[in-house]
Amino acid sequence: MLHSMILKERACQYMNRERLSAIAHEGIEFWNPVATEVCERWIDNLPLTSESEVLDVGCGRAALLFRIVERFGCRAVGVDIAESSIAAATAIAAARSIDARLQLKCEPFDGGSLPDRSYDLAACIGSTHAITDLEGALCLFARLVKPGGLVLVGDGYWQRAPDAGYLEFLGCTADAYRTHSGNLALAQDLAFEVVATHETSADEWAQYEDSYASNIERFVEANPHDPEAPAMARKIRAWRDAYLRWGKDTLGFGLYLLKVPE
Ligand SMILES: C[S@@+](CC[C@H](N)C(=O)[O-])C[C@H]1O[C@@H](n2cnc3c(N)ncnc32)[C@H](O)[C@@H]1O
Repeated sequence: MLHSMILKERACQYMNRERLSAIAHEGIEFWNPVATEVCERWIDNLPLTSESEVLDVGCGRAALLFRIVERFGCRAVGVDIAESSIAAATAIAAARSIDARLQLKCEPFDGGSLPDRSYDLAACIGSTHAITDLEGALCLFARLVKPGGLVLVGDGYWQRAPDAGYLEFLGCTADAYRTHSGNLALAQDLAFEVVATHETSADEWAQYEDSYASNIERFVEANPHDPEAPAMARKIRAWRDAYLRWGKDTLGFGLYLLKVPE
């Protein structure tokens, strides 16, 4: 997505997506457009204890789980399909001596195998496609999270009706996203209580997009003979044009902290 990592991932059919994402996110702690200080504040204010059990689906390099485990001393499981992300996160967890409490699994996420009502917090930020979509993630988490427990999701929304050209560029239809209030209505229809929301600002988006693009441009410049460099350059320049032309006024990203009914 232009700005949405989800559609960015889907769009990279002709190059190694995992590698492109790792290059693009170099130096970016949380692999989503929410500002680091917002992520940190939200995590620090979670009502977790050392007894809590946490799940993060599509955890990337597990920045969320590192902070949660270190702050609350609880146990957590992170799942991600990307080998390089899980390998990097595993090494960091060992170096920080939190590996006994943090289980990191490199596999496609399969929620069907997990027991009901087993987590105090289930998270999925910028990764709902690892489950199906936002609705699928919320339905699954309503089952997996204990009564009174929490769900933390981050997903895209339309700030305004998308232009036909933008949809064509993204390769999706307008029903790929709801609006921000549509996301909230979905959560409420599924009986969640909305505890907190954050709509990513234009500055947060721009900082994420700028860092993402400049990381790839820097890589391409430094590695002109890399076989994937020309495709990476074409891809990021097309993304950048579409972001500036349409995306920055059209696509939003929301963070939602939701409570499962008691
Ligand atoms: C945009 S990143 C978000 C990472 C992390 N949640 C964050 O905010 O820092 C999306 C992640 O979803 C992972 N992913 C995509 N499909 C998946 C699947 N089927 N199972 C597990 N992880 C998946 C990708 O490898 C990627 O690390």
